[in-house]
Amino acid sequence: MDANFKLYSKYYDLLYRDKDYLAETNYLVSLIEQYRPQSKSIIELGSGTGKHANLLSAKGYQIVGLERSAEMVEIANRSKAAHVDFKVANIADFEIGQSFDVALSLFHVISYLTNNQSLINTFNNVHRHLNTGGLFIFDVWHSAAVHFQVPEKRTKTLRDENILATRHADPVIYPELNIVEVNYDIVVEDLGNGQQTSISEQHPMRHFSQPELELLAYATGFEIIHTEEFLSKASPSQNTWGVCYILRKK
Ligand SMILES: C[S@@+](CC[C@H](N)C(=O)[O-])C[C@H]1O[C@@H](n2cnc3c(N)ncnc32)[C@H](O)[C@@H]1O
Repeated sequence: MDANFKLYSKYYDLLYRDKDYLAETNYLVSLIEQYRPQSKSIIELGSGTGKHANLLSAKGYQIVGLERSAEMVEIANRSKAAHVDFKVANIADFEIGQSFDVALSLFHVISYLTNNQSLINTFNNVHRHLNTGGLFIFDVWHSAAVHFQVPEKRTKTLRDENILATRHADPVIYPELNIVEVNYDIVVEDLGNGQQTSISEQHPMRHFSQPELELLAYATGFEIIHTEEFLSKASPSQNTWGVCYILRKK
């Protein structure tokens, strides 16, 4: 499981080039301004290639990004903005000796924590690194939507000037564990010489119900102050794949 986002990292920005990080950042800023307006510092869990962090820095925040994949951190460091620091760390086990106004964990990073102990550890770690009244904002896969929509095989094809990448996603559902293991097979063709490279990675994803997260928040010193669909702000329903949770440190 530690191996995910190792080889995948090289193609991450290409695979998600249509993801609107600026719109997401504006959305996050609006949540921070609504729920904790004086916030200046942010810790980001699972900061990936650093897209949100760099955009948040341009909005005036100081930000530390923690990321388990050294390969993702290396890519993030190539375009690191001012007042941003990326560290290789496991969010279930870190101590960086600083506290922050806001913790963010974006694009289903918390869903990568598939067992209860790593979830409890992560929430405790966030609590310890937050200032009084600090916010913990994250999005996760929503159980109601997973049960209703049922993940199925998908193929995504992307091309840039150098490569053609085809990603097959084949989900295996573990209904008793609230886990969907997404098996990715990526074939990358070098358009210059026609050479093909294949990559396979397993991404086990946990989905959550609101009562489950209420219990976790309560047990780790947080209260849930709001939930909504990430970005659209719609009320969570069986049609909502990614629910955004806004927690406050009690
Ligand atoms: C879907 S990516 C999201 C990256 C970034 N937040 C974004 O929005 O593009 C999930 C990221 O979470 C990281 N991750 C998963 N589990 C982690 C853990 N236990 N500690 C730190 N990072 C983790 C992965 O390495 C990966 O970069």
